[in-house]
Amino acid sequence: MIEEVHLWRGTPEQRALRSELVKATQFAYFDVQLDHPDWRDKHVLDFGGNKGNLLLDPACTIRHENYYCLDVIREAIDEGRKTFPQAHWFHYDRYNPSFNPDGTIDLPVPEMGVEFDVILAYSVFTHTAWEETKDLIEQLRARLALGGVLAFTFIDPQWESNLRWRLEKRNSAAQVEALIGESRDACWCSLVNGTNLYVENSGAWDPRSAECITYNVYYTENFLRAQFPGAVIRRPVNQEMQHCCIIGRG
Ligand SMILES: C[S@@+](CC[C@H](N)C(=O)[O-])C[C@H]1O[C@@H](n2cnc3c(N)ncnc32)[C@H](O)[C@@H]1O
Repeated sequence: MIEEVHLWRGTPEQRALRSELVKATQFAYFDVQLDHPDWRDKHVLDFGGNKGNLLLDPACTIRHENYYCLDVIREAIDEGRKTFPQAHWFHYDRYNPSFNPDGTIDLPVPEMGVEFDVILAYSVFTHTAWEETKDLIEQLRARLALGGVLAFTFIDPQWESNLRWRLEKRNSAAQVEALIGESRDACWCSLVNGTNLYVENSGAWDPRSAECITYNVYYTENFLRAQFPGAVIRRPVNQEMQHCCIIGRG
């Protein structure tokens, strides 16, 4: 199973698939989840926006000059800048065990010189440790303009058997049942390399020594509701698997 990280950090064969395996449903997803806002005058930050896949949707009405993209993969930011030169591109060299293992731990979100009406993060906090996620969400909320919103996706492990689906890619049937049993009542869990499951734990490996290719984190809807009491949580739309959590500036 090829995941986004393989398209950047994988074998030459996997990286060669980058131009073929492009997902461009992100704009349509947030357009529905945010009740079709008028995007044209909005300053939008695509946090973990990779190479700007959000802009690939022909229906996307975000003006390129109002679009800001920040990502930990330098190559993705360089590609995005070439494709959409009027947009704003920032390499954020923060450590991520999977996407940027050589990055700087706890590097603050850079100043971009603008307050955002909307901050979007599609499938980003599905790959960051819970401690990181809380820190980044607080920093991002502080970058919102008055009345602005942060919308990020998350994957509920029990919804449509999301966790089981992923475990089945890399584990035997017996292992899958054992791991599902361990995590049955968990509020959240993280999965390293598709096989090592940490229940209500971000994973206890040494970030500088152990190899982590894929890192997937799952939260139940109730867990995030309790963590962010003012948030609106919306269920997946457009046949996608991810929920959406919408938070204001607070
Ligand atoms: C699954 S990809 C999704 C990319 C993009 N949002 C999309 O939908 O096409 C996850 C992205 O999050 C980025 N990422 C991971 N940790 C990050 C962090 N701490 N800050 C910013 N981006 C991060 C990765 O580099 C990667 O581009």
